[in-house]
Amino acid sequence: MAHDTLTITDSRTQKTYSLPVENDTIRALDLRQIKVKPDDFGLMTYDPAFMNTASCRSAITYIDGDRGILRYRGYPIETLAEHCTFLEVAYLTLFGELPTAPELKTWVDDITHHTMLPETTRKFMEGFRYNAHPMAMLVSTVAALSTVYPDAREIHDPVNRLLQIKRLVGKMPSIAAMSYRHSLGFPYVYPDNDLNYPENFMNMLWKMVEPKYVANPVLARALDILFILHADHEQNCSTNTMRSVGSSHADPYLSTAAAAAALSGPLHGGANEEVLKMLDLIGSKDNVPAYIKQIKDGHGKLMGFGHRVYKNYDPRAKVIKWTAEQVFEVTGRNPKLDIALELERIALQDDYFVTRKLYPNVDFYSGIIYQAMGFKPEMFTVLFAIPRTVGWLAQWQEMITDPEQKIARPRQVYTGHEVRELVPIEKRIPALV
Ligand code: CMC
Repeated sequence: MAHDTLTITDSRTQKTYSLPVENDTIRALDLRQIKVKPDDFGLMTYDPAFMNTASCRSAITYIDGDRGILRYRGYPIETLAEHCTFLEVAYLTLFGELPTAPELKTWVDDITHHTMLPETTRKFMEGFRYNAHPMAMLVSTVAALSTVYPDAREIHDPVNRLLQIKRLVGKMPSIAAMSYRHSLGFPYVYPDNDLNYPENFMNMLWKMVEPKYVANPVLARALDILFILHADHEQNCSTNTMRSVGSSHADPYLSTAAAAAALSGPLHGGANEEVLKMLDLIGSKDNVPAYIKQIKDGHGKLMGFGHRVYKNYDPRAKVIKWTAEQVFEVTGRNPKLDIALELERIALQDDYFVTRKLYPNVDFYSGIIYQAMGFKPEMFTVLFAIPRTVGWLAQWQEMITDPEQKIARPRQVYTGHEVRELVPIEKRIPALV
């Protein structure tokens, strides 16, 4: 059978090389044979921000950015959001297949029985400053779980890995809720095993003195759908961090904390908080054209717009718009929606955004729903981290079990000095004035 190859002629040497092509990809290491002198290091690729480098093979999530397609394990995101619960999707993402009814029952039961935080962890969280950002609390607390579960270092034991996965998926909402209650000055609410995953989270967030908190089913389902939409998104910044830190064989709590730290940035998961700040700043529909002009003049970015991979409408944003309507029937319409719709309408007609293929991403509308549900903007990225933990762990597990993976260690193109002689301190000339 003929193999696909790429033929390269090196104009420096006139030598020709034939590199195998598989899945429209060449292996970067195949370039290393391309040298001018035998003792050269060999050719490398320069790819800041990994614009065109596949760092792994993955069977978890498929994205076609030009066609606006997102699938987990082959299932379209829209289908999963319509028919499944988040824990069902978590099972699919982590194990590759949708669960049968008995498998789901056991899985839900397992996760439910891992929602409790150790008392020392609760006390650890009580030590945060009264105005600590909930996302910073979450990152630190997830890392601190590494001290509670030293057995998590056994990353090559599949049984142990599964135990840590259940603990993390179970405890993430508890940590998130505790960070929220802490920022409000309210006591921690312990999990309630009678409730499902989103209802239990809502109970831990909002239960006050009533004997039994009853979650609004429409809001609980909306939260579950938002969790499904955020479960995984292949090799984004935080997932790449999870894989990179995990590749050093750090335990999953430390790796997840690192991934959550990456998520917190405003260009990634922190964008949903920034969208709300932006809508506040704009203030009213009438100010939208002036704001867009300001962006086009190079002052800032339209937060919640644009994506490295999607060059078409983000399919998650479509489901979120639909979910927003259900939520607003319960909570009343968030007035910020009108500003957001106007921003979208004007931006999608504007040459600046059209030519750069900038469309609303998942973060554009999610914050508006979260705010209508009663969350303050500082909580939005925490809400993103809960479901994304599933994706991080699925990718971590895939990386750990992939024989081709090693410790992540990119190369660099060195642009500094050649070797220099050390000048004694009294003879040095100030370099910076
Ligand atoms: N508003 C205005 N201009 C933009 C925007 C935006 N939101 N995003 C990109 N551009 C411009 C950018 O200035 C550049 O213009 P030019 O070609 O004239 O220099 C062009 O579009 C290409 O942008 P880029 O920066 O090369 O694209 P990227 O793939 O490196 O960045 C992004 C992707 C998501 C970081 C960026 O679009 C952005 O900063 N968006 C706002 C933040 C945001 O909403 N982030 C959430 C992403 S989705 C969820 C997640 O990942 O967590």
